[in-house]
Amino acid sequence: MAASRDDDRIRPVRIDCLAFGGDYNPDQWSEETWHEDIRLMKEAGVTMVSLPIFSWPQLEPEPGVYDWRWLDRILDLLHDNGIRIDLATATATPPSWLLRAHPEMAPWDAEGHRLEFGSRQTYCPSSPIWRENVERMTRAMAERYGAHPGLAMWHISNEYGDHTSRCWCPESAKHFRRWLQDRYGDLDGLNEAWGVNVWGQRYTSWDHIETPRKAPGPINPTKLLDFERFSSDALLELFQIEIDVLREVTPDIAVTTNFMSMFRDLDYWDFAEREDVVTDDAYPDPADPTSHVGAALNYGLMRSLKGGRPWLLLESSVSATSWRDVNVPKAPGKIRVESLQAVAHGSDAVMFFQWRQAKYGQEKFHSSMLGHRGERSRSFQETKALGNELKRLEAVRGTRVRSRVALVVDWDSWWGSSAVESLPSQRLQWAQQARAWHRALYSLGHAVDTVRATGPFDGYDLVVVPNLYIVERPQADALCVFVERGGNLVVGPFSGVVDATEKVHDGGAPGPLRRLLGVEVDEQWPLADGLAERIDYAGRLLKVPHWAEWIEADADVEVRGRYASGVLEGLPAITRRPSGEGSAWYISAKLEHDGLLTVFRDILRCSGLPARDEACVDAEAVTRADDNTDYTFLLNHGTEPVAFSLPASGVDLLSGNEVADRVELGAFGVAVVVSPRAASVPFITVTTPSAKERA
Ligand code: GAL
Repeated sequence: MAASRDDDRIRPVRIDCLAFGGDYNPDQWSEETWHEDIRLMKEAGVTMVSLPIFSWPQLEPEPGVYDWRWLDRILDLLHDNGIRIDLATATATPPSWLLRAHPEMAPWDAEGHRLEFGSRQTYCPSSPIWRENVERMTRAMAERYGAHPGLAMWHISNEYGDHTSRCWCPESAKHFRRWLQDRYGDLDGLNEAWGVNVWGQRYTSWDHIETPRKAPGPINPTKLLDFERFSSDALLELFQIEIDVLREVTPDIAVTTNFMSMFRDLDYWDFAEREDVVTDDAYPDPADPTSHVGAALNYGLMRSLKGGRPWLLLESSVSATSWRDVNVPKAPGKIRVESLQAVAHGSDAVMFFQWRQAKYGQEKFHSSMLGHRGERSRSFQETKALGNELKRLEAVRGTRVRSRVALVVDWDSWWGSSAVESLPSQRLQWAQQARAWHRALYSLGHAVDTVRATGPFDGYDLVVVPNLYIVERPQADALCVFVERGGNLVVGPFSGVVDATEKVHDGGAPGPLRRLLGVEVDEQWPLADGLAERIDYAGRLLKVPHWAEWIEADADVEVRGRYASGVLEGLPAITRRPSGEGSAWYISAKLEHDGLLTVFRDILRCSGLPARDEACVDAEAVTRADDNTDYTFLLNHGTEPVAFSLPASGVDLLSGNEVADRVELGAFGVAVVVSPRAASVPFITVTTPSAKERA
């Protein structure tokens, strides 16, 4: 793609404290209200707000006619009161006049319907008109406010792909063709890559290639995969257009775009490379009592996207959202533990959507820092307490999370195994598999980083690959080197199946991982819904729902678990091959949580890593550190008391109390224990309540 990076410099966010605040929409309120906002923001300890994200129509009411006055006034007011500004380029959504003048700029769905104005993100990412206007607006904003003393960083667009991550319109088709030409050179290259002799799909002209709109039957899988890659790149180009303008006009100001946690549609590795700081919007579902486990993985991704650097939680909800079918509020105390969980995982910010709860529009039932009852609202009381408490954690700003375990996140494999209709089974899903493996490691006491399939793996003792459908040589080589040098690798089912054009590797799975793992997959063996097989793992029977594989293992492979039922009975199921200084494991089946706990406890111990005897999903411990000091966050996400055993005593930054080697926390309790940096990553066990497995 054409986009380029001008340099590798990381520009700092211009704020000298942990950021606390939220999205701010002053253009929905009178100026009188602004003064009340400022007073209450200061009371609540707000240090940064994000604006004017959706205000393009208010800033340019007619083509070329700008009205900066209201924004000038509110930015000055914020700055005069010491509140830093995460300044949006206001390009998150187009004004109606732009769309009416250029209806061809609207996105199309897969059935060929043009989407109507009246919501947000009504644009085709490939539209030249949209791109031109985005560039113009970004330049206008940068020239107007680039030197504003309150400017902390640029907030580009908003949640790319939230509503429009794929577009099937004729302009996208043109862009898709150009993207394919760059990738494959000529039509022969494309025909070869897409395997067009199947079902008679040979192309004789580039013009014959459309976006993969609805077709009579299953669509060519490589075309679908390329469309996923293309669509992520199309938004990346849009991002780069704004970055280029901002780098030109304000070369020293940090840029970001807010991510949506582990979002399928965009390859965030690519996006993060181009920005100065990773920012995330996190909305764990309060209806799910274990949603903090998923949040831990999302945050692991956020800190890993820029090699462990601190990131910023830019949006979260104080209580209920308004976009779920049922929007469950958060119990008192939950917002505190959830916010501090993000800080534990490397965020230098706690921010919300939004400051003042809307009075009208699509999001009026979405909770906010200042609820409809104003100062008296519980949301204000809780966030005010949180904002003021956060000041005690200033010392953790800039520190990094310590972790010895990483999980491979690979968008290509995610897309390859989910965009396609023609698979052995739809019951083995990348995201579900990644979350299940992470949950086991989390429950056994580890904070898990994420990493690309090509590494870098330095500093990790254990790398887990829950599912890597697409494998090419560079990934296989990187994983091999990791193991040779003493690393422990665990690869999950349906990995190494195809190459980057979705052609099955010669000899079948696990393709280029064959030698490293010492196994060959003879046949994928999906199980019918409702049926389950068993694996005998050192005398324990583990349940296998949905997915098994007929595998054969080399002589130098240790078979740790065998199928114990069904047609596969007696065949290897879970294997370990010592290689170089390390070892390479293969888990050929989908396992339930209990089974994963058993297997990963064994893997951790064989890798020289600790594992909790009592797996507790509510008790989380994460350590951030600088060169001299460990800051160990202890979090009780549940309502039952839990007790943590620490390897060393220290001081709790939140309470100011000295703590010995045991800390007991009640419902939603948090402690942040500061102690001298330990030689190895502190491992915290959980000793109560009643020693039962609650994971
Ligand atoms: C985010 C979005 C915000 C707001 C919020 C509500 O996805 O960036 O503008 O809509 O959700 O949860």
